[in-house]
Amino acid sequence: MALLLLFFILLLSALPRDAAALTRRDFPGGFIFGAGTSAYQVEGAAAEDGRKPSIWDTFTHQGSNIRNVLVKAGYSPDKSTGDVAADQYHHYKDDVKLMHEMGLDAYRFSIAWPRLIPDGRGKINPKGLEYYNNLIDELILHGIQPHVTIYHYDFPQSLQDEYNGLLSPRFIDDYTAYANTCFKSFGDRVKHWVTVNEPNIETISGFDDGTLPPRRCSYPFGVNCTGGNSSTEPYIAAHHLLLAHASAVSLYRDTYKVTQKGHIGITLLGLWYEPATNTSQDAAAATRMNDFHIGWFMYPLVYGDYPPVMRSRVGARMPRLTVEQSKKVSGSFDFIGFNHYPDNRARADKSAFNLKQRDYYADAAVTVDPITDIQEGYVEPPCALGKLLEHLKLKYGNPPVMIYENGYGDIPKTPSKIDYDDDYRSEFLQNYLEVLYLSIRNGSDVRGYFVWSFLDVFEVLYGNVRRFGLCGVDMNSERRTRYARNSARWYSGFLKGGELRP
Ligand code: NOJ
Repeated sequence: MALLLLFFILLLSALPRDAAALTRRDFPGGFIFGAGTSAYQVEGAAAEDGRKPSIWDTFTHQGSNIRNVLVKAGYSPDKSTGDVAADQYHHYKDDVKLMHEMGLDAYRFSIAWPRLIPDGRGKINPKGLEYYNNLIDELILHGIQPHVTIYHYDFPQSLQDEYNGLLSPRFIDDYTAYANTCFKSFGDRVKHWVTVNEPNIETISGFDDGTLPPRRCSYPFGVNCTGGNSSTEPYIAAHHLLLAHASAVSLYRDTYKVTQKGHIGITLLGLWYEPATNTSQDAAAATRMNDFHIGWFMYPLVYGDYPPVMRSRVGARMPRLTVEQSKKVSGSFDFIGFNHYPDNRARADKSAFNLKQRDYYADAAVTVDPITDIQEGYVEPPCALGKLLEHLKLKYGNPPVMIYENGYGDIPKTPSKIDYDDDYRSEFLQNYLEVLYLSIRNGSDVRGYFVWSFLDVFEVLYGNVRRFGLCGVDMNSERRTRYARNSARWYSGFLKGGELRP
């Protein structure tokens, strides 16, 4: 009888429950809830205490760092830089206090390479070391796990000038030496490392359409490119990022893992492409987009080579992995981080494709209109996240996943206005957490979820105009005063055991 009762109790607990009534206890034990930022986007103190410029400093100081689309939509060009941003460099203690009050389990941040090793190679900056030691200690003191990204876009300008950055294989050794400094200095306290953030977008935006630094274009796109015009560069840059990642992972595994007992992975932009219509051409276009976008890194990480569709479409321009490299790359992760934002639509449309003769768009025009996206918010239901996780399960052996970014960036008409009321953001995040819960029930091995962003950051392409923060930052105040938005209160309630939709 007792056994029968136990059986029914187990059966009941296995049944899907009303997703809206979820609490954090419905997620697997040890599941990590956090929020994140990155160095250039929040630290400020750009020229202080020995930090030298990264390619992002150069980029933002060249002006016109705002998407043309914003200007077209009637927003004035944003001239902001990350020189001060949220000034976390000076206010990290206040921020950690806020995180603690919110109930975050973890904070994801990145180390600025040119703050720790200002010339990119060689001498360590004692002030940089001190800053990250302080930040990590403060987090641990408050019971918050540090999840550290080693490289999040801000490549040292000196190395860029010296050998063209990611385009040279010399990047691999310099990156590995820098990662070694990070492991050696902070690995006693940092147990989650991300080698590289979003290599699958940095290479496109930095080396093809030229919208991000180092602004190289493989197609004359008209955004003040600094060079390029080679349809091979994005693949070379990606290849070096992949090899640098694998090199740092083997170093960590060989030298540090046993004593430091940490986990190491990479973080990809996890956009998901859906067919724009139900034609078979659009279905094929969406599949190709996903293979190019996710498979570019996932395939070698799991199978040791680039995806067959990329090999056949890109041909001789696709770099080759030697047998030794392939061995080193495959399996070089303890988890994969994904930054997930709403899905895109792929349409097989050669005419719309004219302007973007890119192999990796794979004759699929991407039909998401960023203006609609900005003005009306993300209207799509968040089913793309579930599809992405299912895809990882079926095609890539269900790797352990951290959702390292998910968030809502709004563009208020008056960007500098203090705005507490962001219930749309809570709604957006609630929808995603429901999908995540269902995917986990369905067998996806997700270990953590991080809101992007903990507080307003200097946003890639949009400067201070687009705001992602659970906490706002008053950019007009010299102290960069922080304030908790409604979404911060909602997240906090959930983290402290409340229902997902209170
Ligand atoms: C991805 C990037 O990692 C982060 O730097 C950026 O702010 C967000 N997405 C939002 O665009």
